[in-house]
Amino acid sequence: MRSISILGATGSVGASTLDLIAREREQWRVIALTANGNAEELARLAKQFRPEIAVLADANKLPQLRDLLAGTGIETAAGREALIEAASRPVDLTLAAIVGCAGLAPTMAAIEQGGTVGLANKEALVSAGEVMTAAVAKHGATLLPVDSEHNAIFQCLAGNQLSQVRKITLTASGGPFRTWNAEQLATATPQQAVKHPNWDMGAKISVDSATMMNKGLELIEAHHLFPVGLDRLSIIVHPQSVVHSMVEYRDGSTLAQLGPSDMRVPIASCLAWPRRMDTPCEPLDLAALGSLNFEPTDEQRFPATRLARQAAEAGGAVPAVLNAANEVAVAAFLEGRIGFTRIAAYVEETLSCYAPAAPGSLADVLAVDQESREKTRGLTESAPIA
Ligand SMILES: NC(=O)c1ccc[n+]([C@@H]2O[C@H](COP(=O)([O-])OP(=O)(O)OC[C@H]3O[C@@H](n4cnc5c(N)ncnc54)[C@H](OP(=O)(O)O)[C@@H]3O)[C@@H](O)[C@H]2O)c1
Repeated sequence: MRSISILGATGSVGASTLDLIAREREQWRVIALTANGNAEELARLAKQFRPEIAVLADANKLPQLRDLLAGTGIETAAGREALIEAASRPVDLTLAAIVGCAGLAPTMAAIEQGGTVGLANKEALVSAGEVMTAAVAKHGATLLPVDSEHNAIFQCLAGNQLSQVRKITLTASGGPFRTWNAEQLATATPQQAVKHPNWDMGAKISVDSATMMNKGLELIEAHHLFPVGLDRLSIIVHPQSVVHSMVEYRDGSTLAQLGPSDMRVPIASCLAWPRRMDTPCEPLDLAALGSLNFEPTDEQRFPATRLARQAAEAGGAVPAVLNAANEVAVAAFLEGRIGFTRIAAYVEETLSCYAPAAPGSLADVLAVDQESREKTRGLTESAPIA
């Protein structure tokens, strides 16, 4: 039996993870399940998976969670410190699936236990960068990439050396607006942006896919996970989302990982690593698919990948500023307060007016994150919708 904690259990990645755990129930002991404010869903999952503890980030929802889990013997708690305490409980595997920089402190708490962390929460690594990779090295933790692209690269690198890599190519679906022109993009609504053509994901990452910031964040994530140098990291648009990423070696061989657009595949790879496990995912039918297409990215219509590459090149606090500004701008878009194309514009504006010193600790990263949010919030609140 192995033990697992799932941070962000009520989300899309959390649900996919628990779907797999349910199929091998006898092999897993669930230690902690966490959510933000969705007490009902957390309680439902807790009754099904019987964790030691169920934790909400939002302390106002604790009475509701307590009522729902009364008499079950499952511990309940809420608030930031409770989340960190739950993430610190020793486990074989932590699935870090909180969305946004809100997941950084709990993910770092899990890393500090020196265990294995399946990282879906890309914003945490983008923001903390070297602070997180240094903690992984210091505590002897293992980071397994859950993001389908990084998991693909991880699989393509198995048995090879990073020093032999000529190029790593991240594939991008291009999102729901891949073929839209600039005028159409300016009219894009939140309902249209969250309707991803291939993947069923949470709202924030769906908007990031539509702006291509998701690929930008993934570029920075790849830079930390697979340090081959930024000039060896590239992005290609692949609308079918069948090839999840590729690694080209110095001898001209390119290895790719293919699979259905179902997050349970990369999650299963992390759950079973270094072995494999069965999944209920539809196998690929390449003959039915017929062809796979690839095209270059268009940074005129989708400037987010350019901003992210510049942030990665600048390093220091810049990726954290980029991430925080993006989180605030995406939230403002989802609330209908700013237009779609303003998301990248606000990120760029924030980057140009705020340049903090490189963070040396988790506290520094969290401070940069907070201040960046305030800057972007100020910009979005004082600016027009278009
Ligand atoms: N979805 C995918 O297919 C996919 C693929 C690759 C990578 N990822 C990455 O995985 C992460 C999760 O994505 P998702 O699509 O699963 O997101 P999601 O469906 O929106 O779920 C987010 C989870 O985080 C919790 N949460 C939100 N804000 C929080 C806060 N302030 N403090 C503590 N917990 C909080 C939510 O709880 P409540 O339910 O209570 O709000 C929920 O459990 C993201 O970093 C995303 O980029 C996702």
